[in-house]
Amino acid sequence: MDCQPRIHVCDDPHALSRAAAAAFVGSANAALSTRPHFTVALSGGVTPTATYVRLASEFRNDVAWHRVHVFWVDERYVRPDHLQSNYRMVADAMLRPLSLPPANVHAPDTTSGDPEASARRYEADLEAFFGSDLPRFDWMLLGMGDDGHVASLFPGAVSLEVTNRLVIGVEDSPKPPPVRLTMTLPLINAARAIHFLVSGPHKRAALARVLAREDDELPASRVQPCDGTVDWWVSREAWLGASPV
Ligand code: 6PG
Repeated sequence: MDCQPRIHVCDDPHALSRAAAAAFVGSANAALSTRPHFTVALSGGVTPTATYVRLASEFRNDVAWHRVHVFWVDERYVRPDHLQSNYRMVADAMLRPLSLPPANVHAPDTTSGDPEASARRYEADLEAFFGSDLPRFDWMLLGMGDDGHVASLFPGAVSLEVTNRLVIGVEDSPKPPPVRLTMTLPLINAARAIHFLVSGPHKRAALARVLAREDDELPASRVQPCDGTVDWWVSREAWLGASPV
């Protein structure tokens, strides 16, 4: 299903983080009205941090958080207390302030010293939780680099072509640190709802190429859920000039 992405232009990063957080709350409550839990896969980086902080503050009373299960789309292969850790960023911004039960926090292991073994273990965790060979996340938050990368899938990387794995190790990320774990495109594209958060004029060119939908080269262009929706939450400074029309 090649669904038409929905684009939401927000005046500034503050408006973007609030709108994305409100969308999360709406989706979570809709899902939890019919299902026991709400599964989310979160990205790291700078852009989504404010959204996570808002969820744990302004929206802390608006979701049954004990029924939300959190996974990571990708993770830098550093200790979980390292400043570059996506786990640490989400834990500081959201998990600890919300006192999310440890059983709801599904972080990949990055301490074994063996990224491939860690990737396999994370795959096993996913399959144990979802009970299926292709987990479908209710809500996946993706960022995008100014080179059009998503997760830790970078332009021209062989990792973009992997179709027989859910999670793989990456040893040569052009965005430091070089060693990472990342969900693959088949797992990303199995999500029920994908939400991109893109902010900053430096991402304008990549955003324009992706939204023009003429160029499959960029990893973000390869995010086309088979049976799901795609929402783009973009700041006006990233959008100006990116408009495909
Ligand atoms: C990571 C992220 C990565 C990020 C983009 C955008 O681990 O670095 O998952 O994919 O989403 O690089 O990052 P910013 O939001 O910091 O621009």
